Amino acid sequence: MSSEWHKDGFTISTDPGRLDVDLIHRFLTTESYWAQHRTLPTVKLAVQNSLNFGVYEDDRQIGFARVVTDYATFAWLADVFIIADYRRRGLSKWLLQIVVAHPRLQGLRRWMLATRDAHELYRQFGFQDLQDSNSWMTRFEA
Ligand SMILES: CC(C)(COP(=O)(O)OP(=O)(O)OC[C@H]1O[C@@H](n2cnc3c(N)ncnc32)[C@H](O)[C@@H]1OP(=O)(O)O)[C@@H](O)C(=O)NCCC(=O)NCCS
Repeated sequence: MSSEWHKDGFTISTDPGRLDVDLIHRFLTTESYWAQHRTLPTVKLAVQNSLNFGVYEDDRQIGFARVVTDYATFAWLADVFIIADYRRRGLSKWLLQIVVAHPRLQGLRRWMLATRDAHELYRQFGFQDLQDSNSWMTRFEA
């Protein structure tokens, strides 16, 4: 079941059917620093298997975030963006507020994310630098 939130003429929705997957793919491949080589089929598969949060002005999608989660212990926050014309008016903060308060994402043991330069944004929502980075490992394929 999907949910919707409204504020100042904008909507956040978890309805995957509302997402503009072409826009997400275009943003990721032309404007993100982390997913420039992601193919459209990969974006579609990722969306299919995530809890997605689309940000809309009327029917136009202007932002996105997705959460990869087991809904019990762990959540990975990924692909957060607001398109350029809509930045610096608090939309990503509203988006994160909605994401971390989502009823199905409460009581998890851990959230994670990776960011190059937006640490101060995520800090406002309880994310911290890794305390024990020696304990963590990662495996890259592509
Ligand atoms: C990062 C991004 C989502 C911010 O969206 P936004 O709607 O313009 O941000 P907001 O207006 O809600 O404000 C963001 C807050 O985080 C802070 N911040 C910290 N690092 C930031 C960064 N790298 N970029 C933007 N804001 C940042 C801002 O100062 C602001 O806090 P403040 O209001 O307390 O001063 C947007 O700039 C974007 O899509 N950038 C390109 C994609 C990207 O880098 N995504 C994040 C990947 S981890």
